[in-house]
Amino acid sequence: MASAKSVCVRAGTPADSAAITGLQEAGFGMRYGGDENEFRGAVFPVERSLVAVEGDRIVGHTVDLTMTVTVPGERTVRACGVSGVAVAPTHRRRGILRELYRAQHARTEADGLPLTIFTASEGTIYGRFGYEVAIIDTAVFIDTRRAEFRATTPDPGGVTLETLAEAAPRIREIYERWQKMTAGAQARPDAKWDLFFADVERHRRGATTLFVLLHADGYALYRRSRRENRDIASVWEFRAVTPDAHAALWRVLLGMDLVDTVEAEIADDDPLAYLLTDPRAVQVTHRGDALWARVMDVPAALTARAYRADLDTVVAVHDPFRDAGGNFALRIRDGVAECEPTSRTAALGFDINILGALYFGAHRATMFAAASRITVEDPKALRAFDEAFTTDRAPQLGWFF
Ligand SMILES: CC(C)(COP(=O)(O)OP(=O)(O)OC[C@H]1O[C@@H](n2cnc3c(N)ncnc32)[C@H](O)[C@@H]1OP(=O)(O)O)[C@@H](O)C(=O)NCCC(=O)NCCS
Repeated sequence: MASAKSVCVRAGTPADSAAITGLQEAGFGMRYGGDENEFRGAVFPVERSLVAVEGDRIVGHTVDLTMTVTVPGERTVRACGVSGVAVAPTHRRRGILRELYRAQHARTEADGLPLTIFTASEGTIYGRFGYEVAIIDTAVFIDTRRAEFRATTPDPGGVTLETLAEAAPRIREIYERWQKMTAGAQARPDAKWDLFFADVERHRRGATTLFVLLHADGYALYRRSRRENRDIASVWEFRAVTPDAHAALWRVLLGMDLVDTVEAEIADDDPLAYLLTDPRAVQVTHRGDALWARVMDVPAALTARAYRADLDTVVAVHDPFRDAGGNFALRIRDGVAECEPTSRTAALGFDINILGALYFGAHRATMFAAASRITVEDPKALRAFDEAFTTDRAPQLGWFF
């Protein structure tokens, strides 16, 4: 049996493209459609791939793209967005993923990026490499017969039904406004927009092409299908930059004739249920991780975002996978952080994972202390740390990758 030692990791080349496609299709159990050919490789260029090779055969793969991501305080950070991680089913559990991640981290470090992010296929794999859940989303379905709006819910109107082609420039403009004000959301590169507007067959999963509802400050893109004797509208992307746009779009979505159920993924703190007379009409079908994050450079990452309260403390950060970490002094005044290595004694101690979990504001530090994931030498320091990192709004993923 081959081991990771018989495998070497190198940068991908255009000649590797077909083998990488085959590996990803086997890994994720799907086939790319012919209508995606012209977009393949544009979002994540093969030159950014790392491949694990045994002899002349590619048996493992990862790729990344430098993304611009909004962080609390409406600032941005540059992050390594990892995608397409797959190891051949013939070569699993021999340490190939581990070797790929070592190489990936070395490149991210060389690129000077303070953060690595990705969407994960399973929850059990990445904690050991220093990652933690950084954004949570909630899948809901709404039985439209139960969806009655409260008398206090705004009814601003202003929604029009458009074609995707006509609405494309407005959708891009609204997304950009939304992305700049939403922690966790990434800028969407041109190549990704091209794929998005191509509305390829694989994304439809047997449903229709996209219908478009447009408002001056928001949009809802949805598909229609019929399953188990129900007519369904599945929201593909919903972005609203004002409460009025949010209410106006939901009023149209939940008021459509010949629709029994509306399905959507919403932010953890979306007020949708409270626009309705019966909050139980919004039923949660899944709540889980939308994004995982890992801090690669503690001072660079922590000084990139804003904070809600002043803080003066020392934290001990353990980072065994990269043999990094150490004690860091963190001083925050008026939302702005200074952070540097220190020999002072730490008030709080935790694995590097915790910084990824807290970075965009999806979790509270007190919750991780309750889970015995933060060692607390000084309870006052925990309260102050928690207060500083907490954000007003839940973060949201901009686009899946
Ligand atoms: C997930 C996948 C990439 C793992 O690759 P691999 O080469 O088998 O992983 P490694 O042998 O390097 O494993 C490293 C560690 O992770 C653990 N691990 C790997 N995959 C795991 C899984 N699916 N569940 C739980 N633990 C897992 C290993 O047991 C090992 O643990 P250790 O630290 O105790 O030694 C591979 O199984 C795969 O391609 N799966 C299908 C596609 C997929 O899910 N890709 C990930 C997309 S985010």
